[in-house]
Amino acid sequence: MADERLRLRIIEDHHKLDRIFASVRSNLLQLDAPDAQRDPEILEDVRDDLKFALDEMLEHFGLEEEAIFAFLKDALTDLNDRIEELEQDHEVLCTRTSRLRTLVAATQHHATELDLDLALQLVEETSDLLTRHNQTETQIFVEALWRLDERGRQRLLDALDSH
Ligand SMILES: [Fe+2]
Ligand SMILES: [Fe+2]
Repeated sequence: MADERLRLRIIEDHHKLDRIFASVRSNLLQLDAPDAQRDPEILEDVRDDLKFALDEMLEHFGLEEEAIFAFLKDALTDLNDRIEELEQDHEVLCTRTSRLRTLVAATQHHATELDLDLALQLVEETSDLLTRHNQTETQIFVEALWRLDERGRQRLLDALDSH
């Protein structure tokens, strides 16, 4: 039951973020074709996706840091170092996504040409880190749920539900 509720709140968010980044990547690859760089509709889709990705990340990371990480750092102190690494990943993921968004936003109204190599490099690095981060995080959450007693699990779920 606890696993199911965590899955609904966390794993579905992870899948959503994966889908958004897959869409950004596939749109950027389409821009790799000759003359496609000036296709305003594709660029607009990429801009929309990146805005959505950043909003979703901020909400998802906020939920994790405020509800889950804060609780686990207190309840299972030996997890602190691994949780701090997850928090650092959140910083890097947001910074890279913001940079990518700024890069693509600068192309609006043809102000500048998109540096496609850099954009693709950023999207690959961000997607890879996101995948690794989500795998590690899910392992830690599953391990924590397994280690907590019934009361601890309930407190974690209450913290989740309050956000
Ligand atoms: Fe996370
Ligand atoms: Fe997460």
